[in-house]
Amino acid sequence: MDHDRWLRELSEFLRIPSVSTLPAYDADCRRAAEWVARDLRRLGCRDVQFIGSDTHPVVWGVGPEVPSAPSLLIYGHYDVQPPDPVNEWTAPPFEPTVRDGRLYARGAADDKGQVFCLLRAIEASGAPRVNFRFLIEGEEEYGSKVLFDVLRREPERTQADVALVADMSYVAPGWPAVYTSLRGMCYAEITIRTAKSDLHSGEYGGAAPNAHEELCRLLTRLKGPDGRINIPGLYAAVKPPTAAERAAWKRLPFKERDFLKRRVQAKALTGLRKYSVLERLWALPTFEIHGITGGFTGVGAKTVIPAEATAKVSLRLVPNQKMKTVERQLATAVQRLVPPYVTATIRFLHGADPARVRIDHPAFKLLDRAFRDVVGRGTVPARAGGSIPVVPALGARGAPVLLTGIGLPDDRLHAPDEKLDLKQLWDGIKVFGRFYELLGDSTGIRSNS
Ligand code: BES
Ligand code: MN
Ligand code: MN
Repeated sequence: MDHDRWLRELSEFLRIPSVSTLPAYDADCRRAAEWVARDLRRLGCRDVQFIGSDTHPVVWGVGPEVPSAPSLLIYGHYDVQPPDPVNEWTAPPFEPTVRDGRLYARGAADDKGQVFCLLRAIEASGAPRVNFRFLIEGEEEYGSKVLFDVLRREPERTQADVALVADMSYVAPGWPAVYTSLRGMCYAEITIRTAKSDLHSGEYGGAAPNAHEELCRLLTRLKGPDGRINIPGLYAAVKPPTAAERAAWKRLPFKERDFLKRRVQAKALTGLRKYSVLERLWALPTFEIHGITGGFTGVGAKTVIPAEATAKVSLRLVPNQKMKTVERQLATAVQRLVPPYVTATIRFLHGADPARVRIDHPAFKLLDRAFRDVVGRGTVPARAGGSIPVVPALGARGAPVLLTGIGLPDDRLHAPDEKLDLKQLWDGIKVFGRFYELLGDSTGIRSNS
C-alpha cells in the first residue's frame, strides 16, 4: 500500500479544474479526460478511447482479457461542480490539501477521489481476475447528455455481468451502504417579462408591473410554506416507501437532531412535516430555487423597475415519476399561475428519470462480503437523495447496477471545503480490491457477456 504515491497521484487529478458546466473550463475537462485515459493505459487497458467527444469526452476502456471470467463495467465521472463561493474555502479548491487526515479539494469525494479508488483497487489486487470495462464521463454534473447519446447509439457498451458505481457515501461512519434508488431531476429556467424595457420607479412605480415581484409571487405559489409543491398531478405517480422500508430506515444510524445540528447547521428543518426527514430526502419530490437574476444587483443603488427576471429551479423526482411528464406539469402550472399581463417562458436545461435498483442479484452479496471483510460491517440498503442521470441506462442490458461509495455524509459535496477522509480512501481501495477478487472467483455470476 503506497499511500504517499497514491496521494500524489490523486492530487494531480484533483488539481485539474474540470468544471463541466462552465465553458471557460472546457480545456481542463479535456485534460482530466486525458488523465483518466493515461491511467487506464497504465493499468493495462488494451483499448482506450474518447467517445462522444463533441463536448466533454466519455473515456471508454477495456481491461486485459481474462478468459471465462465475469465482466465488470465501472462507471464514474471526472467532471466537478463549480467551486464558488471560492472565498469560503479554507484552502483553494483546486489546490488539494490534507488537514487532520482529510483531503480537501473540489472533486475529492464527488467523484474523482472515488474513481481513483476504483482504479487503484485494480492495481492493489494484483493481476486482474475480471474483464474490466470503463465508462468515465465528464458531464455528469450537467445532466450526462453526451453519455446518453452514446448509449442510445451504442447500447452494447453496457453489456456486462455487473456494473459498479461508487459515487455515494456510507450512511454514517462505519456503515457502508448500497443504494436502492436515486432521485431524478428536472432542471428549468423560468423567465418573467412584464414590459418592453426597464422603467424609472419614480415615474412608473405604483402603476407598472415589476418582473421580480411577479417572479417571486410565482415561485412562492409553486411551493407553499408547508413544503407542498403546488403543481397539479405532481404527487400522483409518487410511490410511497413500503412498510418494511420505513421500518428499516428507523433502524439506521440517523438522528434528525444531529442532521439539523451537524450537517444542515440551520435553525430548523423545513418541508412536509407529516413525513420523516429520510422520507422527505429519499422518497418525495422537491422544488428548489437555485438562483434569481435580473434587475439591478450591482454595488450601490439604482431605482429601477425591472422588466425581466429569471429563476433557475429544479425538481427532484422519485420512483415512479417520469421526467417528461413533470416537465409538462411544471410548464402548465407556471402558465396557470402567472397573471395574464405577464409573459412567462420556461426552458428545460437537463433532466433524468429516477432510478430504482433491485438488490437481489448475487453480486450484491459479494459487495456486502467485501465491505464486511475490510471494514467489519456489510452494506445497509439505503436510498439516495441525489441523482446520477445515466444509472437507468447502465442497467438497460440487464447488468445489476451496484450503487455504493466510500464517502461520508459530511463530505460537503458541491459546497466549500469538500473533502474525503483518507481512511475511507485507503479502506475503499482494499474493499474494492477484495470485491474484484470475490467477483473473479465467483461461479454463477456470468450470464450476460
Ligand atoms: N454524486 C452525485 C449524486 C449523489 C449525491 C448521489 C449524493 C447520492 C448522494 C452526483 O455527482 C450529482 O451531484 N449529481 C447531480 C446530477 C444532476 C446535475 C443531474 C445532482 O444530483 O445534482
Ligand atoms: Mn458524483
Ligand atoms: Mn455531484
